Amino acid sequence: MLHGLGFDDGQIDGDCGALSGGWKMRVALARVLLGRPAVLLMDEPTNHLDIESIIWLEQFLKSYQGAILMTSHDRDFMNRIVARIAEIDAGEIVAYTGDYDFYERERAIRETNLQAAFARQQAMLAKEQRFIDRFRTHAAKAAQVQSRIKALDKIERIELPKRRQVVKFEFRPPPRSGDQVAVIEDVHKKFGPRAIYEGFSLTIRRGERWAVMGRNGAGKTTLLRMIAGAAEPDSGGIRLGASLKLGYFAQQALDLLDPELSVIDQLQRDFPHDSLGSLRTLAGAFQFSGGDVDKRIRYLSGGEKSRLAMARMLYDPPNFLVLDEPTNHLDLATKEMLVDALKDFEGTMVFVSHDRTFLRGLASRVIELNGRDPLVYPGSYVEYVEKMGREAPGIWR
Ligand SMILES: Nc1ncnc2c1ncn2[C@@H]1O[C@H](COP(=O)(O)OP(=O)(O)O)[C@@H](O)[C@H]1O
Ligand SMILES: [Mg+2]
Repeated sequence: MLHGLGFDDGQIDGDCGALSGGWKMRVALARVLLGRPAVLLMDEPTNHLDIESIIWLEQFLKSYQGAILMTSHDRDFMNRIVARIAEIDAGEIVAYTGDYDFYERERAIRETNLQAAFARQQAMLAKEQRFIDRFRTHAAKAAQVQSRIKALDKIERIELPKRRQVVKFEFRPPPRSGDQVAVIEDVHKKFGPRAIYEGFSLTIRRGERWAVMGRNGAGKTTLLRMIAGAAEPDSGGIRLGASLKLGYFAQQALDLLDPELSVIDQLQRDFPHDSLGSLRTLAGAFQFSGGDVDKRIRYLSGGEKSRLAMARMLYDPPNFLVLDEPTNHLDLATKEMLVDALKDFEGTMVFVSHDRTFLRGLASRVIELNGRDPLVYPGSYVEYVEKMGREAPGIWR
């Protein structure tokens, strides 16, 4: 079970206290799963997992005998495990019998029907009201008016769902870069005795979107840091192309936010020449609605901080995005908004993500770090999965 959750033998024999928070979470998850309870309650179990472990957990839960009640922001995970969905909206629960894709389709149909019924009812109510207003003072119609008022009071009003609307975010086009965005040449990188790269070469061209895959510790972050200039190769070189504006996102970027500022203050400080209106729209596109923009950064959750950091980066977009796990802790709506927005992005991307919706929607090229020579796959993630017969390189069988 620990192997499935991504532990190597060293960690398994090691001290729990030495593990980071994310790994302690996995130990806790393993304990719960080993207990084989009749009912499993899980609040976002995939949050601290890499894609290999998510796939392992999927397999485990698919054949689980007990009942499972969970929340999740991972569409594929839900699709493969759940048979029913409960939607909570404005204090009401609506249950759907099916997976997440089914729920989404049904919800859209329900909503269309509801909107139509709502419009019909509004027209009918207005007509009745006009009759009442018109004949209110006519003695001859008094009885009729009274009965219509009574009937009107009894009608149960249709209410539209209060669910947040997703604001579509339109990128400003980034400045155009040269055709060669990054040239990685014969890069070597070691940490102590352990070689991570031994002569890796790759040319990244304008418009390509590279996903970097590989199990925990394979060297994904190291590669992104070297490309972003945050780390140096031991030998070999990485040349960035002409007219390049690089944006680097990693979880540490969250620490650069000023905890004392509110969301909107931070955006105003970053973009002092832009109107409050357009900054509010930006915040809205990243799911900060209404009073959320006045929350202090100190009190934001990990997901909220990630959203804010991404909003800052993408408002005035760089033409080369280097994103290390941007989808961690992000909610489904924001992830899908990002996939939508980044699909039309004219710049170049290198990213690591454990979210298959993100990988499938964006990756046009795949680098697989597998402990031997990195495998460079010149097609999309979808084609890569088909070709390899697996969704990630390091799956424990
Ligand atoms: N600054 C560092 N000093 C020593 N070892 C490091 C350092 N950075 C990374 N490593 C090691 O290099 C390996 C690759 O790390 P990393 O690139 O972060 O992997 P990934 O992002 O694929 O999980 C890991 O074994 C990690 O412990
Ligand atoms: Mg990493």
